[in-house]
Amino acid sequence: MLIGVDKQGRSVMLEVNNLKVEFLSNGKSIAPVDGVSFTVGANETVGLLGESGCGKSVTALSILRLFPLASKARLSGEVRYDGHDLLTLDDAGMRAVRGKQIAMIFQEPMTSLNPLHKIGAQLGEMLRMHTTLVRREIDYMVIAMLQRVGLSRAEQLVNEYPHSLSGGMRQRVMIAMALLCDPGVLICDEPTTALDVTIQAQILDLMRQLKQEQGTSILMITHDLGVVAEMCERVVVMYAGQVVEQSSVHELFDAPAHPYTRALMRARPALDAKPGQPLNAIPGSVPLPGTAGAGCRFAARCTKADDLCRSKMPELAAVTPGHLVRCWHPN
Ligand SMILES: Nc1ncnc2c1ncn2[C@@H]1O[C@H](COP(=O)(O)OP(=O)(O)OP(=O)(O)O)[C@@H](O)[C@H]1O
Ligand SMILES: [Mg+2]
Repeated sequence: MLIGVDKQGRSVMLEVNNLKVEFLSNGKSIAPVDGVSFTVGANETVGLLGESGCGKSVTALSILRLFPLASKARLSGEVRYDGHDLLTLDDAGMRAVRGKQIAMIFQEPMTSLNPLHKIGAQLGEMLRMHTTLVRREIDYMVIAMLQRVGLSRAEQLVNEYPHSLSGGMRQRVMIAMALLCDPGVLICDEPTTALDVTIQAQILDLMRQLKQEQGTSILMITHDLGVVAEMCERVVVMYAGQVVEQSSVHELFDAPAHPYTRALMRARPALDAKPGQPLNAIPGSVPLPGTAGAGCRFAARCTKADDLCRSKMPELAAVTPGHLVRCWHPN
């Protein structure tokens, strides 16, 4: 289900084009996602990186239009998948896309799992909704998928409720549910943040292995540069609702061009850090949506900022082919 080829000759599965998300809050419109564009290639893992509050989850939820009606979200731009703009698809069309063509994994598995239903019934429901398989085939596929994500005693697990599972097991169940219908794109929103480091490493290993076997394209949302380094081929860095840098992972680590990306890298704890050694946290915080001025949104926290930065927003521009940066003074 390729939708085309980009300027670098990559086959594109998912294209987000100038996405803007506005919420109406106290009679005022705020835009936590403000003109975001990127693509996810075939069999590619793209990282969406940034600090808390910069608009990563809102971007992910927009792709599947998963906002509650009450949130009065207004979406504009384009989300192209399989020849359609998902932002203009009708409800029936969107239901057919969710789970079947594009699946999503959340940080907290209980977002997707219903505490009142047995594991087997919940996974089976995905196949009932999206396929014409009969009961016996569905039961077989559910157990096979639970085994594939490394859950032993799958035959018993199907009769258990989510609360009887550990956090790591629930996350595996959620991955199984996401992969059951063999989606073209998998969106993972901080899938391992809530897990301890050992389980986190196991889950990341599992996802890498499944990607190799199944050839799924992945959008991996994270604030963790370690996850980007381990999992992704390309990375999109977001700040305050905008893309500020975009490149291959190799080039990002080799030659980060945006002061924000460089600051994120300095803020990582070093492996040989002494106990009590302070982290180089980035001073200040991400501006709340709707509070940014006319200039670069990072200017207030940037050591390189001058009058130009504070008064005029830089455009996203190429420093080398395929490496984009939004900065007046890139490295
Ligand atoms: N339904 C909503 N109505 C109004 N504002 C919202 C809504 N959902 C999110 N926001 C705001 O949008 C901004 C971006 O939020 P988002 O959840 O996308 O951040 P994030 O990058 O995923 O952060 P985190 O790493 O903490 O998950 C935040 O300021 C948040 O308060
Ligand atoms: Mg989030």
